[in-house]
Amino acid sequence: MYINEFKSRQLELVAEHRIVLRKKPHLRWLFFEIINKCNLRCSHCGSSCLSDGQQLSVDDIRRTLITINDDKPMVCVTGGEPLLHPDFFGIIDQINKMGFKWGMTTNGTLIDEKKAEDLARAQIATVSVSLDGMEESHDKLRGYKGAWKLAVRGLSSLIKAGIEPQVTTVCHRGNIEDIEELYELINSMGITSWRVINVEPIGRACESDGMMLDEKQFRWLLSFIRSKRFDNTCDMEVTYGCSHYLGLENERMVRDHYFLCGAGLLTASVRSNGDICACLDIENRPELVQGNIKNDNFLDVWSNKFKEFRYDRTEYSSKCRNCTERLYCGGDSYHTWDYEKREPILCYKDIVAESYE
Ligand SMILES: C[S@@+](CC[C@H](N)C(=O)[O-])C[C@H]1O[C@@H](n2cnc3c(N)ncnc32)[C@H](O)[C@@H]1O
Ligand code: SF4
Ligand code: SF4
Repeated sequence: MYINEFKSRQLELVAEHRIVLRKKPHLRWLFFEIINKCNLRCSHCGSSCLSDGQQLSVDDIRRTLITINDDKPMVCVTGGEPLLHPDFFGIIDQINKMGFKWGMTTNGTLIDEKKAEDLARAQIATVSVSLDGMEESHDKLRGYKGAWKLAVRGLSSLIKAGIEPQVTTVCHRGNIEDIEELYELINSMGITSWRVINVEPIGRACESDGMMLDEKQFRWLLSFIRSKRFDNTCDMEVTYGCSHYLGLENERMVRDHYFLCGAGLLTASVRSNGDICACLDIENRPELVQGNIKNDNFLDVWSNKFKEFRYDRTEYSSKCRNCTERLYCGGDSYHTWDYEKREPILCYKDIVAESYE
């Protein structure tokens, strides 16, 4: 009881911070979708990845970063599969030359020992490798037999090169049975950080029937993450991702921070065609494109646009308006907001983790 009162007070502070950010946003993470091409075709993929290979150039990166040279947000390089970019290290050189820290999300299949050493030399600060279950379920989801072995090779090569990769696992109905075995495996490999998320209703996941976890499975997943976080014998940092308000019972138990969707407040993204948007997981709707780096000054756009992300949506949603946790949640994640109905697509406030004792 006491703990929930404490959390309520903390969440009130988070809510105050959200209000401040709406007036004075603070860009902390900038995502570049450097290429939309991919070598896999995952059945859950929420990225706009196509095969036309649309890509950002070194000059696109330079032109964007020069406008925010004083603030130096963390630069996150992603795709599609970022390592397919023909001038990947040219882009990284530019980011490094301008003094920005950078990280990458990758499916890991293109990382051998040589590539891992190149990434270490290029001062990669964070790298997240996708590993979605054990071999059979991973390969099935990723649509490529052999993808799992390549991703595991990628992880081992990164560790050998002195990099500490994070594993990201998207949990869905087809791999939830693998989660405990996967934990044992990556723990034994020396992985220090594991981010476990649930499949989101975005992109191709909406076309694939029955991928989403049901309530019982989601509760189990949260209780599994909690159990590892409170287990003194577990050295690996296990965390749920940044999405969704999870209710008082789970907030701060499954990750190190309270929920605050940073889209347009702390986070911006540049798509492979140069479009400036809040978060790459948000549906690519024309009215949500804030500008384009080929024509607009990125900082001007960041400072003056993004209105959709800088007001209290909950006032306009019949679902949220009378919700008792509206202040803490703020209408949940922007990538699961219905922009036509102006309602949240998901609401997890009543999800309570099952006891795992
Ligand atoms: C879009 S991918 C791009 C980087 C790289 N190609 C990869 O697969 O890691 C970035 C991350 O988003 C995750 N992702 C894609 N679709 C998703 C969905 N529908 N729900 C949750 N995560 C998703 C991927 O599994 C991956 O961890
Ligand atoms: S999730 Fe990553 S690897 Fe899979 S299709 Fe999408 S961009 Fe490619
Ligand atoms: S009803 Fe709206 S504000 Fe309340 S918890 Fe759900 S998504 Fe959040």
